[in-house]
Amino acid sequence: MSSSKNSLANKAQAWSGRFTEPVDALVQRYTASIGFDHRLAQVDITASLAHAAMLAQQKIISPADLAAIEAGMAQIRSEITAGQFQWQLALEDVHLNIEARLIELAGDAGKRLHTGRSRNDQVATDLRLFLRASIDETAEALTQLRTAFINLAEQHAAVIMPGHTHLQVAQPVTFGHHMMAYYEMFSRDASRLADCRKRLNQLPLGAAALAGTSYPIDRMQVAKALGFDGLCRNSLDAVSDRDFAIEFCAVAATCMMHISRLAEELVLWLSPRFGFIDLPDRFCTGSSIMPQKKNPDVPELARGKTGRVYGDLIALLTLMKSQPLAYNKDNQEDKEPLFDAADTLLDTLRIFAELVPHIVVNVPVMLAAAEQGFSTATDLADYLVKKGLPFRDAHEAVALAVKACVNQSCALSELSLAELQNACGLQGQAHLLTEDVFALLQVQGSVEARAHLGGSAPKQVLAAILQARADLAG
Ligand code: ARG
Repeated sequence: MSSSKNSLANKAQAWSGRFTEPVDALVQRYTASIGFDHRLAQVDITASLAHAAMLAQQKIISPADLAAIEAGMAQIRSEITAGQFQWQLALEDVHLNIEARLIELAGDAGKRLHTGRSRNDQVATDLRLFLRASIDETAEALTQLRTAFINLAEQHAAVIMPGHTHLQVAQPVTFGHHMMAYYEMFSRDASRLADCRKRLNQLPLGAAALAGTSYPIDRMQVAKALGFDGLCRNSLDAVSDRDFAIEFCAVAATCMMHISRLAEELVLWLSPRFGFIDLPDRFCTGSSIMPQKKNPDVPELARGKTGRVYGDLIALLTLMKSQPLAYNKDNQEDKEPLFDAADTLLDTLRIFAELVPHIVVNVPVMLAAAEQGFSTATDLADYLVKKGLPFRDAHEAVALAVKACVNQSCALSELSLAELQNACGLQGQAHLLTEDVFALLQVQGSVEARAHLGGSAPKQVLAAILQARADLAG
């Protein structure tokens, strides 16, 4: 260990020889990021080790220096893991805290670590490494959730429910088809996430403060060691770019928007007025005053948390707006929104991946609801069109029949053939309606008739499930 004065540990007194008075206490607290960026500690060490190995390889530091740095970092890692590391506000951020401890442990070798780099390219590298790991966990959670939708859809491929437009009963669909709609949304999120990862996976290190460095560094070696696909190609852009964080938050916001739509439907379906589904008690909470209540707190909270992730995206966009090149201290403010978006999204996806397989479907209630609201009226119109009536005339004929049924408080299928012909006002064309129409007025017939690709017929739902399983496996 070196006996020379550790200027980093003395930073509370002065930044460097250039300063003649200590940093004001309030300024110190205001500028410090250690309260939140200590989460980058492990990736910071990983990146430092790759940088040090490259410095040794390029003969910028000696093999002995590298060994001392590696030993020091190993100890620092274990101190952090054991919760014994002393984070100091006076040392401002995670980078300076770790470097100061390394210098305590490794002396001059520790002081050589920062050769050819700056905290500007260091923090950009750390953030990318951190976010890459978070993206990988999120992708895994998305796969679990997508699988849960596929399984639920398969169980209920032929279960009929009312499809809604304007939250009014529109046409019967199957619950399986409805679940596969969510599979589609979350699959697009997975693909957006993978796309974001591709652009993120470029190494900023080597850009140093902004202009690059005069040492004979080998950036490709560092990139390979850290699992990056390539290098950030412009040093100014490397240290000032936060697009990857914004892209991630945009993906997170979109995915949370999908979650909020699902959450909203779960809340509606769970309400006794719908009664379409039930959830196990462990996903719900009670009321402190109303003993009868079983509240869908998880979906409601997820719906609410969507707002904070939108906020994270807007915070980052606003943070970067109008920033001159290259690095500015503003960028220190990127971490909290980014961490918040990553944490919220991952927790939410994990909890929904747990919850979705436990949705209990109330089949008779869904079926009864699908039979209300003249949900097969379009099928009757289509039937008349197939018999030669122009669609607009068929639409009008069925509208008249619905009006008659509303007046008599009955369903279309409850009319006799003669009553239906009469209600449709088909002067002289009554022969267009024959007994076979009644099969189509049943919700089962209506659903089975939509047997094209992307349609709600159980056959098509099973085909979509097959395709989805193949996509997930590939
Ligand atoms: N804590 C800083 C951040 O998060 C690290 C980079 C600081 N660089 C500087 N030149 N002040 O952005």
